[in-house]
Amino acid sequence: MIKTVKTQDIKTGMYVVLPKKWFAHPFLKNEFLITSPEQIVKLLEARIVEVSIDTAKSTFPEQKAQIQISPKVKTIPLPIIPPSLHEAIYDKKMPAEEKAKAIHKYSIEMMHRLMERPSAESIKEAKKGISEVVDLILADDKTNQQLLSITSHDYNTYVHSVNVGVLGVSLAKTIFRRSDAHNMHELGAGFFLHDLGKVKVDINIIIKPARLTDMEMQEMQRHAQYGYEILTDTHQLTEECKKIVLQHHERENGTGYPQKLYGDAIHVYGRICSIADVFDALVSDRPYKEKLGPFDALKVMKEEMLNHFHKQLFEKFVLLFK
Ligand SMILES: [Fe+2]
Repeated sequence: MIKTVKTQDIKTGMYVVLPKKWFAHPFLKNEFLITSPEQIVKLLEARIVEVSIDTAKSTFPEQKAQIQISPKVKTIPLPIIPPSLHEAIYDKKMPAEEKAKAIHKYSIEMMHRLMERPSAESIKEAKKGISEVVDLILADDKTNQQLLSITSHDYNTYVHSVNVGVLGVSLAKTIFRRSDAHNMHELGAGFFLHDLGKVKVDINIIIKPARLTDMEMQEMQRHAQYGYEILTDTHQLTEECKKIVLQHHERENGTGYPQKLYGDAIHVYGRICSIADVFDALVSDRPYKEKLGPFDALKVMKEEMLNHFHKQLFEKFVLLFK
């Protein structure tokens, strides 16, 4: 039997049949068995809001009951912060490795929910969840270290946002440790939201499983300005922290975008984010390139891209992985 299900209600063990042609989504086939939560995130990333489920080919019996959820329940929007994120952060008995995995997973879910509806209220709500993650990174070195070691995820905007958030806050923690001049909550929000502007970029460019054409690249590069505008329009983040979003693709030698800033014209917050952003791009799997291990990624950044980054900040960044 074929049933229609909202993508957010999909469970592992369901056999999904996608509504789009194969070239319009990032999967090799139009129908397949869901075997991992990452596949569900990928479907959501591709902005596929509902799919058909072939119950005869599904392997998870409970999913038949889950499909029967009342339509009323389905229409209630999910809270931006998954309750499990809060629970994991405040669970004092949870071992650091398990805690880091849970925080990573539920932060991705939070970013996904935020980017589906990036209103002022949603951003304000997400900032509360991000603040809790920031406080944990600042207070719990063990879990912080575990969070830094999580690199085995498929690349998508939500995963990348969380990784850059964790990396940016971790680097800021070591640099600004003895200063109260920096609002770490606002700063953390800037790192987690650095790619928010991608919600305004054509989804076909975002999910294209190949290198972008020049025209597509121009549109993709507008995400820095788009993100800055969203945060200005919604009155979120201080002017300084909005520079993270606007400047995270600027490079020390003036080869970045959107403003082609040189050296000190780039705010220290933007400089931190650019290091975190490039590192995460290098250690992530992309359809057109193999991912590097953290050591190799740092080596490439040092040997081939050092004039892109602020040297002292990069040296501090390297020390995060010792
Ligand atoms: Fe970006």
